Amino acid sequence: MGSGIAQVAATAGEDVVIYDTKEEALKTAEEGLDKILTRLVEKEKITESEKERIQGKISYINTLRDLKEVDLVIEAIVENLDVKQNVFSTIEKFVSDECILASNTSSLSIASIASSLEKPERCIGIHFFNPAPLMQLVEVVPAVQTAEEILQKAVAIIKSWKKVVAVAKDTPGFIVNRVARPFYGEALRIYEEGIADFATIDWAMKELGGFRMGPFELMDFIGNDINYTVTETVFEAFYYDSRYKPSFTQKRYAEAGFLGRKSGRGYYNYSESGSKPEANKNEDIGKQVVERILIMLINEAADARFWNIASATDIDNAMTKGVNYPKGLLSWANELGIDWCVQKMDELYNFYREDRYRCSPLLRQMHSKSEKFEV
Ligand SMILES: NC(=O)c1ccc[n+]([C@@H]2O[C@H](COP(=O)([O-])OP(=O)(O)OC[C@H]3O[C@@H](n4cnc5c(N)ncnc54)[C@H](O)[C@@H]3O)[C@@H](O)[C@H]2O)c1
Repeated sequence: MGSGIAQVAATAGEDVVIYDTKEEALKTAEEGLDKILTRLVEKEKITESEKERIQGKISYINTLRDLKEVDLVIEAIVENLDVKQNVFSTIEKFVSDECILASNTSSLSIASIASSLEKPERCIGIHFFNPAPLMQLVEVVPAVQTAEEILQKAVAIIKSWKKVVAVAKDTPGFIVNRVARPFYGEALRIYEEGIADFATIDWAMKELGGFRMGPFELMDFIGNDINYTVTETVFEAFYYDSRYKPSFTQKRYAEAGFLGRKSGRGYYNYSESGSKPEANKNEDIGKQVVERILIMLINEAADARFWNIASATDIDNAMTKGVNYPKGLLSWANELGIDWCVQKMDELYNFYREDRYRCSPLLRQMHSKSEKFEV
């Protein structure tokens, strides 16, 4: 992630220093960037001189030195709070008082990282999506300690790098990793209930729902170990709210080493002899699958709005620009009708009698007032 972020900043004209404790990681970053930029030149997306300009903007270091000229540090090291806190308090000694110290963490609280600093008000979350040069979205996450001026500065810098900013509250999963949970969780549950198999669910979500990838293809792409861990982390962080409950199916697949593409087998078989099973292209089953996953996504997005995690526009931008959803979920809710959304959630709740299927109070309130989301 670090080298991708460096590429974004250098392309926007910033002078960048990449710091990593491992010499070989620096070498990999430098060689990787050269490969990516060479491909961009071949595709005529940039010129040879632009490539050289970008490369000339980046220097690589493996010991910390005077960084008084640096305006912004974006940390993208191992996802471990102790290690991050250590690095933040060390870095603070090398930078000026005005320097913003940001973390690219996906799952740790920004408040806990900021607490390691002498000046915690300069700390903020700046969360890129992978691959950083291609994904337009950046979530900017102020901690309770963050100064308003730092938030404004961080937003302006990231916008000047031609990224779409969504400002999110410092809560588990921020926007995208919270709102997207049902894409995986509800798909797994539909499979576990025997309503449809992997191929059918993937077919329905792509062909009828308009999503670029089906949930099982996407979990195989991300890796079942990684995706399971994110789900478990979010579940624990929400004090075991059943809406985020992880799935036994995914846990067993991860335990079995069926991690997805990277291990040659996940929900699908990626070996040379492996073939993809046929989907059951029954329109009624397909519709049932899409509606159930979609309403759970909409309900999650509405709840994120209810709890003031972000503005309606930022929630919609986050899902279209961070994970390429075909439409913003709140715009989708407007289109389908808030009354339809409430009815679908109530149908699920009445059948299962599980808290997982509780309708967001915001949807219910908007329904009673005949309101729509302002997106
Ligand atoms: N991979 C993703 O899809 C993704 C997406 C968004 C955010 N993130 C976040 O970005 C961060 C990095 O993730 P990644 O996948 O790039 O990890 P990675 O393991 O690929 O890279 C981490 C790098 O940090 C270096 N490092 C470790 N400890 C260090 C230290 N003390 N000082 C300096 N360098 C150190 C390692 O040598 C390594 O090169 C994590 O916080 C993660 O949550 C990752």
